Amino acid sequence: MSSIARIPTFAFAGIEAVPVEVQVQVAPGLPAFLVVGLPDKAVAESKERVRAALTAIGLSLPPKRVIVNLAPADLLKEGSHFDLPIALGVLAAMEVIPRDAAAEYAALGELALDGTLAPVSGVLPAAIAAGARELGLVCPASQGPEAAWAGTVEVLAAPDLPALINHFVARQLLPAPALPDVEAEPWRGPDLAEVRGQESAKRALEIAAAGGLNLLMVGPPGAGKSMLAARLPGLLPDLTPAEALDVSLVHSVAGMLSDGKLIRRPPFRDPHHSASVPALVGGGHRARPGEISLAHLGVLFLDEWPEFPRPALEALRQPMETGRTTISRANAHITYPARFQCIAAMNPCRCGFLGDPARECARAPGCGQDYQNRLSGPLLDRMDLVIEVQPIAATELARAPVGERTATVAARVAAARDRTRARGGARCNAEAGFDELQPLLDADALALVETAAARLRLSTRGQVRALRVARTIADLAGAKHVGRAHVAEALAYRHRVPGR
Ligand SMILES: Nc1ncnc2c1ncn2[C@@H]1O[C@H](COP(=O)(O)OP(=O)(O)OP(=O)(O)O)[C@@H](O)[C@H]1O
Ligand SMILES: [Mg+2]
Repeated sequence: MSSIARIPTFAFAGIEAVPVEVQVQVAPGLPAFLVVGLPDKAVAESKERVRAALTAIGLSLPPKRVIVNLAPADLLKEGSHFDLPIALGVLAAMEVIPRDAAAEYAALGELALDGTLAPVSGVLPAAIAAGARELGLVCPASQGPEAAWAGTVEVLAAPDLPALINHFVARQLLPAPALPDVEAEPWRGPDLAEVRGQESAKRALEIAAAGGLNLLMVGPPGAGKSMLAARLPGLLPDLTPAEALDVSLVHSVAGMLSDGKLIRRPPFRDPHHSASVPALVGGGHRARPGEISLAHLGVLFLDEWPEFPRPALEALRQPMETGRTTISRANAHITYPARFQCIAAMNPCRCGFLGDPARECARAPGCGQDYQNRLSGPLLDRMDLVIEVQPIAATELARAPVGERTATVAARVAAARDRTRARGGARCNAEAGFDELQPLLDADALALVETAAARLRLSTRGQVRALRVARTIADLAGAKHVGRAHVAEALAYRHRVPGR
């Protein structure tokens, strides 16, 4: 028998689990415990946690030379999840657990000093990758349901190291983890009916929800922009099982799936405007998905849009077109999915009242131009719908009738999305290309697009985006073809930011 114990595990590149083998050799020599193979700081510290955990459960490292190699050596190993495979490797090398049996499971988990296992990021992609390689998976108990969702993999979800040892020596077997709850919970957030009046803003919100389209709301303070945005996620349909897997993978890698629960509703992320570029688009010292990836297949809400630092805003441009973000690291490029719907809100100027003769400041309209110039043209060009939100008059608030409830509007949105999907192309209209949009366009609708494009100086992107809005309006109306009226409404949403 080889004197080396081998435990499979994974490193993460984006949401991809890359196989890593933990090799442990116990050799004669001066007592030492070494970890080699490009470990980062957290992995180097594993050594101390493994040593302490073994001591806590009444085992100690043999008084020999213990070498841990993480292969392949040229791949950077990040994170604390290497604790468990290292500990299992040491236990196998010491013949506390059978080597052959342990080698059939990929392992990941963080060890506390007392030998209990703490949750780590990446269990879901690791479980899928382990299944593909016909391995089982060992992970912390609380993440058992997350791993079990991968389906084809045998999962050992252990609360602590002694429970795992008992399982491997067949003293006491671990129960199979429960399957996660796959039913999406009904929407319990704020209801659209709480917004009085604002019919045209609500219409734009419904179109944005139905098409997965980007929406910019411009208006004075207190007009209800943030209020409307918070009600968008309630209008969106549940994720399909395949989408739920995609979204859950990103959240798993970010360590944000709690209690093994999967994500069945479109995510809603609203980063503060002080967010750094890495926090927004991903990366940084330890590569992690950013807000735009956490919003994958959901909504990214940028409140007080012009207050975001310019580099952060410009970093959004590429992902908004491609649906993914690529981060350069010292020795590799990492890609995360980032197909999000962007909802932005802003005041027309810094003091907020541009265009309101009673309240605008002495610097108008200059202050509005300065403020809006923080947003580049290409960024504004990516907003499919731009609307003005004016506060409802003081006398109307009480009188405005209570409008439709979230559930009513969500049902129309779901029906429109079904029609989009039934055409067999894009998942939602935001992802439809010109080739998909053109065949069902009436001749007079196309003529209107062409004249408007020339008059409004629409970019090519602007035209395609206007057609996506028109297609969505037609889907909401249950129309097979996009007609002139649909295009006319769509073009009304393509106007410029007021005062720009
Ligand atoms: N149409 C409305 N119906 C009911 N309440 C409203 C309406 N518009 C505004 N409000 C009330 O005003 C509050 C402020 O609205 P909100 O925070 O959405 O404004 P805003 O447009 O985002 O302002 P700011 O530009 O300052 O961020 C809401 O929390 C709500 O209580
Ligand atoms: Mg607001």
